[in-house]
Amino acid sequence: MGVISNRLEGDVAFITGTGSGLNRGVALEFARHGCVCICADINDAGNEETVAQIRAEGGEAYAIHLDTRDRQAVKKAGEEAFAIKNKLTIIINGAGVGSTATLENTPDEEYDRVMDINLRGYFNVIMEIAPRVVESGCGRIVMISSSTAKSGGHQGGPAYSASKGGVISMTRHCALNWAPKNCRVNCICPGFADTPFGYDPKQTLQENEARVAAMKANAAKHMPLGRLCTPEDIAGICMFLVTDESAYVTGYTIDATGGRYIYNT
Ligand SMILES: NC(=O)c1ccc[n+]([C@@H]2O[C@H](COP(=O)([O-])OP(=O)(O)OC[C@H]3O[C@@H](n4cnc5c(N)ncnc54)[C@H](O)[C@@H]3O)[C@@H](O)[C@H]2O)c1
Repeated sequence: MGVISNRLEGDVAFITGTGSGLNRGVALEFARHGCVCICADINDAGNEETVAQIRAEGGEAYAIHLDTRDRQAVKKAGEEAFAIKNKLTIIINGAGVGSTATLENTPDEEYDRVMDINLRGYFNVIMEIAPRVVESGCGRIVMISSSTAKSGGHQGGPAYSASKGGVISMTRHCALNWAPKNCRVNCICPGFADTPFGYDPKQTLQENEARVAAMKANAAKHMPLGRLCTPEDIAGICMFLVTDESAYVTGYTIDATGGRYIYNT
C-alpha cells in the first residue's frame, strides 16, 4: 500500500505482539502514516515478517525480540527502543494469548500462563516503558483487552476473562495518574477475530480451520454486523486513539464487537 499520510510523522511507537494478527495490522497502518514502529514479539520469524512488510512499503520499523513476561527484558527492550530515535511517544500494549481452559478445569499452570502473559506482561510494559512515553509530554497508550472482559467469555475461560478485565482496570488507573502529564491511556475490546490466536496447537490444521469456519458462520448469523473482527478494524480505532481526533478521550474502553452487546435475542 505504501505511505499514505504524514499524520504520525515524528511519532515513535513501541508495539507488542506484532508477530501476527491484530497488532501486526496496527503496526502496518501506523507506518503508512509516517510513524516509526518498534515491533516487539517473542516470535522472531513473524516479527521480522512484519518489519519487512513495513519496509517494503517504504515505512520505518525495527524488530526487537521480547518476552513481555520478563520485566528485566522489557526494561532492556525499552532502553533499546528509546535509543533508536531518542524518544517514544506511543505504546500499543497488545501481546497476548488465548485459553480454552474451562471453569470446571483450569489448572494452576494454565492460570499462571495466561495471567503472566496477558496481565503481568502488560504491567511490565507499563512499569518499564510507559514512563518514557509519559516523559514525551504527548504520550498515547492503547491497551488491547477483549470483549471477553465484559461478556464473561464462555469461550475464553475464567483466567482469560479475568486477565482481560484487569487490562481495563489498569487502563483507567494509568489514565487517571498520567492525565496531568498529557498522556492519554485508552483501551480496545476486540470481538472474535480470525488470527493465529484462535489456533489450538493440539488440534490439526483441518480441525482449526473447521472451528474458524464455524466462528465465521456464527458471526454471519448472530453478530449484527455479520462478520468477524479484522486487523484493519483494530488499526482504525488505534489511529483514532493516537491522533488529535481523540484529544479529549482518556481512560475509555472502545468495544469493537460488531454490535455483539446490542444483540438481544
Ligand atoms: N483474535 C481474537 O479473537 C481476539 C479477540 C479479542 C482480543 N484479542 C487480543 O488481541 C491481542 C492480539 O491477538 P491476535 O488475535 O492478534 O493474536 P496473535 O496470536 O495473532 O498475536 C499475538 C502475538 O503476541 C505474541 N506473544 C504472545 N506471547 C508473548 C510474550 N510473552 N511476549 C511477547 N509477545 C508475545 C505472539 O507471538 C503473537 O505474535 C491479544 O492481546 C488478544 O488477547 C484477540
